[in-house]
Amino acid sequence: MAEKILVIDDDVDSLKLIGLMLQKKGYEISVANSGAQALEKALAERPDLVILDVMMPDMDGYEVCRRLRAEPATEAIPVIMFTAKAMVDDKVAGFEAGADDYLTKPTHPAELLSRVKALLSRRAAHQAAAEGQGHVVAFLAAKGGVGTSTLAVNVAAALSQRQETVLVDFRPGLGSLGMELGFSRSTGLANLASRQPASLDAPSVEAELVTHSSGLRLLLSSARPAESQLRIEPDVAEAIVRQLTVVARAVVADLGTGLTNLNRRLVRLASQCLVVVEPQRTALLMTRDLLETLSEMGLERDRVGVVLINRAQSGLQIPWQEAEQLIDHEMLAIISPASELAFQAAEAGFPMILYQPNSVAATQYSRLADEISARIEAVAKGVVAS
Ligand SMILES: Nc1ncnc2c1ncn2[C@@H]1O[C@H](COP(=O)(O)OP(=O)(O)OP(=O)(O)O)[C@@H](O)[C@H]1O
Ligand SMILES: [Mg+2]
Repeated sequence: MAEKILVIDDDVDSLKLIGLMLQKKGYEISVANSGAQALEKALAERPDLVILDVMMPDMDGYEVCRRLRAEPATEAIPVIMFTAKAMVDDKVAGFEAGADDYLTKPTHPAELLSRVKALLSRRAAHQAAAEGQGHVVAFLAAKGGVGTSTLAVNVAAALSQRQETVLVDFRPGLGSLGMELGFSRSTGLANLASRQPASLDAPSVEAELVTHSSGLRLLLSSARPAESQLRIEPDVAEAIVRQLTVVARAVVADLGTGLTNLNRRLVRLASQCLVVVEPQRTALLMTRDLLETLSEMGLERDRVGVVLINRAQSGLQIPWQEAEQLIDHEMLAIISPASELAFQAAEAGFPMILYQPNSVAATQYSRLADEISARIEAVAKGVVAS
């Protein structure tokens, strides 16, 4: 069925122009030439998208947008504001009124069309996940400082190029992940931690997300050492993650180190648990132990992947074949040293894979993201079949 777009503009020529163009592209078009009529039609017809002019005599577009957002039946309809007002303040007012996107006239039809497509596909992804269809990918290490967060960030960035992805930093007081991406204040997780699990729904969790300039969305922990005392009850954490699977197709969680009660709970929710290790004897022995515990917890082998990170270029490291024997598990991926890139990307506040997409490291992270996607698909199919 064709997707229905409601075009709202007091200027009839403009209505015709946009309407015809979109109609030619196969969309079903409905038009309104006043704010009052627009609200009536939006309620009666439930369009998939609204294109909204700002300057109209009876009621301006901001007000129309606010009223759409205030009405439960229309609150989720994507809105593109389309107007001759090009000042930054106008845009800000548009977004504050609840617009999803903003275009200034005159706009090339190709641009309008691409924005329409992007918004509609984002909405489709949301709807597909509406019953909590997203998958959780957990990153965990037996030992700290081995590159777990860097891996989680880069895999999340790679996944987000393909599907709606949210990255969660589950380490209150230790949440340096946000800082490395250029966010100075990160209170999202702390704000949710004090809530009752039953009171958490998708909108309240989504409201705490921040968006990186790359489009990746994040739920961040603070990096203030004093806040490492903040406790997140496993029930609350589980409710947060479940709501995130409604919001996103992939929920990537940085669990840091160790199998705390919290991490045990989160690992159980994960379709894929990635265990991060460096080629060093102590880390490997601790990892072997961690893998055994995960297996005892009932995580099947195909839900657990081990990633070996070589941060140092050195002959003084244990070769990967020997590492595999030590942990009794094959490596899903091996990441090469990339100290310079890791440093530069962190300085720029960008994931390595976006900072230098053609680098060896970027290729390795992207390949791992592909592998994780494939495994999630396989596991999901297995669940359906059994
Ligand atoms: N492939 C790599 N090559 C070289 N350096 C890397 C690589 N991956 C990560 N690093 C660097 O290693 C350091 C530790 O990384 P990161 O913070 O991701 O580790 P972590 O395991 O999450 O640490 P923590 O236990 O503190 O959370 C960082 O300085 C990071 O830039
Ligand atoms: Mg970390």
